[in-house]
Amino acid sequence: MFIAGSIRRLISLFNQQRNKKKTLYIPPKPNLHNLLVLRSLEDTASFVEKYLGNAVYRPSRETFIRSVLSQFSFENLVICEFGVYKARSTNYLAKLLPHCTIHGFDSFFGLPKKWSGNDQDQGYFNLNGKPPIVEKNVKL
Ligand SMILES: C[S@@+](CC[C@H](N)C(=O)[O-])C[C@H]1O[C@@H](n2cnc3c(N)ncnc32)[C@H](O)[C@@H]1O
Repeated sequence: MFIAGSIRRLISLFNQQRNKKKTLYIPPKPNLHNLLVLRSLEDTASFVEKYLGNAVYRPSRETFIRSVLSQFSFENLVICEFGVYKARSTNYLAKLLPHCTIHGFDSFFGLPKKWSGNDQDQGYFNLNGKPPIVEKNVKL
């Protein structure tokens, strides 16, 4: 009896912790970097509200791609992606459009020069020239 009760209590405690984890909000650490990120987010949100009232926001690249594709008919269309890297979006597109050929362009040696506005230096995304595995309807 004691053991069964203890196991039940343990399971209940485990479930409580698991549920807490799902909803637990951990605020960012109060440091300069996080404060600047929060301020720039607020600034961006204000800009979007003021000047981009009709812009459509998509929370992920997949929903963005699907939303763009829904606006076109795909007869005689040439689809090119500039910047393939590990082909995440290239292969996603290829699977969504199995009857189209997706042409992907990349050096696979990473960025030719540092991208401004972030930490990604020259050579970032370097795959040593080795292209990723792609779907049958992708040409690199
Ligand atoms: C952000 S990654 C692409 C991400 C990719 N679309 C995905 O879904 O994961 C940018 C890619 O563009 C390539 N790239 C950027 N500038 C380039 C250039 N001038 N010539 C060739 N490749 C370039 C980089 O090598 C890198 O693989």
